[in-house]
Amino acid sequence: MSSQNNNLKRRPLVVGNWKLNGNQSGNQQLVAAIVAQRQAEQYAEVALCPPYVYMTQVAEHLHGAAVKLGAQDASAYAQGAYTGEVSAAMLADIGCQYVIVGHSERRHYFGESNEQVAQKFIAVQAAGLTPILCVGESLDDRDSGHALSTIAYQVEAVLAQAGLDAFAQAVIAYEPIWAVGTGRIASPQQVEEVHHYIRQLLGEYGDRIRILYGGSVKPDNAGPTFALPDVDGALIGGASLIAEDFVAICQQADAKH
Ligand code: PGA
Repeated sequence: MSSQNNNLKRRPLVVGNWKLNGNQSGNQQLVAAIVAQRQAEQYAEVALCPPYVYMTQVAEHLHGAAVKLGAQDASAYAQGAYTGEVSAAMLADIGCQYVIVGHSERRHYFGESNEQVAQKFIAVQAAGLTPILCVGESLDDRDSGHALSTIAYQVEAVLAQAGLDAFAQAVIAYEPIWAVGTGRIASPQQVEEVHHYIRQLLGEYGDRIRILYGGSVKPDNAGPTFALPDVDGALIGGASLIAEDFVAICQQADAKH
């Protein structure tokens, strides 16, 4: 089940996660510079996830472009008295296609449990959008030999609530917490081991699902990661705020063709 065979070719996906960054004028420049370098015939698919408040602004700039719109999170609830929440249906309404769920920063700074992440995953799919489910171990987990069991626990929590068939329309991002925003990318061996393992957890969807790597991906280290058979692109934080760097990473994903 490891590498992809030719009838199951997975199109690479590169997603920019802006996190809590941006302002209207900066966004406009950043998006314009990225859009100018991306055409529909390029192999990798590209999506940008701005903060909620800027999503309509970015959607306007992406109109007719080969770059898609994503969100950094979504409510587990569909509607009602949930102050401060944004539903997946609202995101769909403004042209969003992908939604990150269970990012390690949501899990750790905002206390999201595996069960809440699973509820969000389900809510995103119910609105017709594609969840990008983030999983990843802490440094303690890795040092104590529990990296794979942590990943299994996180994936199985979603499997238990959403069911295996939900993974027909989902993306997974493996983001070791110790590599996110630290400048320390996981080694090719570590990445390949986890991606291969996740495919084994997903039965008949294992060969089909796109699994991205995330954590300190930069133009100068993306190549060897993208060359791995079980890596289908990346979730990019810091480098997605610099048009030149982000575009260079996308071009390395195009080369996976
Ligand atoms: P980073 O963030 O690229 O800045 O490490 C990745 C992420 O959090 O998705």
